[in-house]
Amino acid sequence: MMTTPRYAPPTPPIRRTDPGLRGFLRAARSNVLGLWPDQAYEQDVYATRFLGRTTLLLNAPDAIRRVLVDNPGNYRRSPASIRILRPLTGDGLLLSEGAAWRLQRRTIAPALGPRMLPLLARHVVAVVDETVAALRSVAGGPVDLLAAMQGMALEIAGRSMFSVETSGAAPALRAMVQEYGADLARAHLADLLLPVALPTFRDLRRRWFRRRWMAVMSGLIRDRLGQPPPAAPRDLFDLLRAARDPETGAGFGAQALRDQTATMILAGHETTAVTLFWALSLLAAAPEEQALLAAEVRGLDLTAAVAAGTIPELPRTRAVVAETLRLYPPAFTMARAAIGPDDACCISIPSGTLILIAPWVLHRHRRFWGEPAVFDPDRFAPGAPPPPRFAYLPFGAGPRMCVGAQFALTEAALGLAALVRAFEITRADDRPVLPVAIVTTQPDHAPGFRLRARTDG
Ligand code: HEM
Repeated sequence: MMTTPRYAPPTPPIRRTDPGLRGFLRAARSNVLGLWPDQAYEQDVYATRFLGRTTLLLNAPDAIRRVLVDNPGNYRRSPASIRILRPLTGDGLLLSEGAAWRLQRRTIAPALGPRMLPLLARHVVAVVDETVAALRSVAGGPVDLLAAMQGMALEIAGRSMFSVETSGAAPALRAMVQEYGADLARAHLADLLLPVALPTFRDLRRRWFRRRWMAVMSGLIRDRLGQPPPAAPRDLFDLLRAARDPETGAGFGAQALRDQTATMILAGHETTAVTLFWALSLLAAAPEEQALLAAEVRGLDLTAAVAAGTIPELPRTRAVVAETLRLYPPAFTMARAAIGPDDACCISIPSGTLILIAPWVLHRHRRFWGEPAVFDPDRFAPGAPPPPRFAYLPFGAGPRMCVGAQFALTEAALGLAALVRAFEITRADDRPVLPVAIVTTQPDHAPGFRLRARTDG
């Protein structure tokens, strides 16, 4: 295996000591990624107690397995997650619980499963090709690849799952996501402390946002709702429309379909967009690695009809995607509130405890990874040992694991392959780009890139 120079991308500084209440609240409002002190990246469990409530950051593999896989029924999403996500996703799959969740999961999972990947990959390639063509026309000047990846991922999500073109609604939709991220997606003290049933002042503003956001979502699926359902489902929307509760026979109403659309479009595009952005950003800083990828994709057939079958021929590209997800996990933390007491493999969890399982910390934990800050796709190259158990969780684990993981990995690998094949990518300036936690792991600013068309692709 060729060795490349070591590159450790910049991150928010790690605190030396416990943040205390004030530091905790400041980090919750500004950037959670700077919250955890040095010892959190070494210990099995890092406990804090604020205003009478215990928060446990779990790093021990067995304890994580207990919470996510063996006893998930004892844990539900935390009040702050519900407050922040519900205006964007309504009562779709991400936030539903119990029987409603089971029906939704059973309906949605097959539409994103391995059998559907060839079909999904066709949509991916079509949109990626359009994006590459559009980027060729602006390649000379500094290019905003964050906006380009967000637009591309949004269009892929809309077309592949709902057969809708998002391009008309995209500017409004992106502006709203940005507006929400700049303010209401950040947790304040009352958001963290009050039960969801007691709305905070910010919840009232979030409700107003939700009304506007859901109106955009309704607009996206209005035409589809007006048409009679086809005999055979063509996409996720048709599958959702055809689904019936096995006990009651009830189907999803218009509002439930809208919430599901919002969930899948949001969960399905923000995450892959930032993954692609960070991968491109890492490759711009590591030209030798970029050259390896360009060599891998040279001459490969990435056309729509065969693209899904090409994935096994992209081991280095997939290793870069996996390493990007380690260094910049889009879902930086998974929060759960314990409904009842539990014993998570020697860690006693009183009822009401807030549990944090943070891929951001796990993926940089010194006991699990050598040189955790360094970008090193070799960790995921063919033949490398698998990552330590429950130390690599970009898609979570257990029954609530990401339903779109395979789709996301396909999209990221094909997107990256096509972009690196088309362009040599460098940064237009050297201002460091820092990750900041706003619903997903976002860059603190959209840096400019320079794209030089490759002639040997
Ligand atoms: C790189 C891209 C992605 C990452 C890193 C990611 C990460 C995650 C994680 C960590 C969870 C579990 C959250 C928890 O347990 O609290 C999750 C759940 C979920 N993801 Fe993804 N995701 C990605 C792409 C997608 C895509 C493409 C879709 C849709 C097509 C999607 C839809 C969902 C949904 C609906 C859930 C909730 C599942 C449930 O609760 O049953 N995600 N995702």
